[in-house]
Amino acid sequence: MSQREAPIGVFDSGVGGLSVLREIRALLPNESLLYVADSGHVPYGEKSPDYIRERCRVIAAFLLERGAKGLVLACNTATVAGVADLREQYPQLPVVGMEPAVKPAAAATRTGVVGVLATTGTLKSAKFAALLDRFASDVRVVTQPCPGLVERIEAGDLSSDETRAMLYGYVAPLLAEGCDTLILGCTHYPFIKPLLRTLVPDSVSLIDTGAAVARQLQRLLDERKLLADGPARPAQFWSSGNAPQMENLLTLLWGEQSLIQSFDNIKSDC
Ligand code: DGL
Repeated sequence: MSQREAPIGVFDSGVGGLSVLREIRALLPNESLLYVADSGHVPYGEKSPDYIRERCRVIAAFLLERGAKGLVLACNTATVAGVADLREQYPQLPVVGMEPAVKPAAAATRTGVVGVLATTGTLKSAKFAALLDRFASDVRVVTQPCPGLVERIEAGDLSSDETRAMLYGYVAPLLAEGCDTLILGCTHYPFIKPLLRTLVPDSVSLIDTGAAVARQLQRLLDERKLLADGPARPAQFWSSGNAPQMENLLTLLWGEQSLIQSFDNIKSDC
C-alpha cells in the first residue's frame, strides 16, 4: 500500500470523536479511517493531564502500528494535555488537535457575550487561557464545565428527562449572562445539539469545530502530498471499554453498523 492510501488514525476518550470522524468522512471520502474510543478511561475531563498524556501516547503508538499516516485527536481535553507531546515525539507526522471555537464565536456574537460548554480539564488548561487571551479580548466569555454529561452521551442517552435537566442546569446560567453564542467545546456535545436546540432561543448560535478539524487535516495531508486517491476501505473501530455497548451506539452516532474490536491488549496502567 502506498503511503497516500494509508489510513488516518482518530481517537477520543469515547464516542465523542465520532462527531469529528463524520466530518472527516464527509470532506475526505477517499480516506480510510481507524478510530479508537478509549471508553475504558472515559471521562478524560476529570482526569489529570499526566494521565491523559499517557493515554495519548499509548493510543498513538497503537494507531501508528496499524499504519496510520496521520493522527487526529478528536477530543479537546486530550488536545490540551497531549498534542504538544505527540508532535514532539513524531515530528514528521501530521497531527491535528482541536480547541474550542473561541475565534469564530468572538466574531459571531452580537451581544458580546460568549458561552463555552466544555470539560473541566479543557477549561482549566493554560492552552484555553491562551486561546482567550488571543481571540477574546473584545468579548466577555462565560465558561461552564459540564461534569456528568459525557457519561450520559456514552450511555446513549441523548434526550431523556435526566439528560435534559442536567443540560438545562449547565446552559441556563449562560443564557442568564446574555450569551447569544455557545461554543460546544467537547466533541461529545454535538450529539446533544438537537436537545440543546430545544433549550435555547433560536437566536442563540451553537458552534463546534468538527468541520474545521476536517479542513485542517485536508490542508496538512495536501501539503505533504498524502491525500488518498481512494477508494477508502471500511472504517475500523476499537474500544478499550464495553465493545457491545459501543456497537449499539455506533449505529446511532455513525449511521453504520460495524464490528468493534477490543483494545484491552494495550490497556496501560496509568
Ligand atoms: N470528547 C472529549 C472532549 O472533546 C472529552 C470527553 C471526556 O471528558 O472524556 O473534550
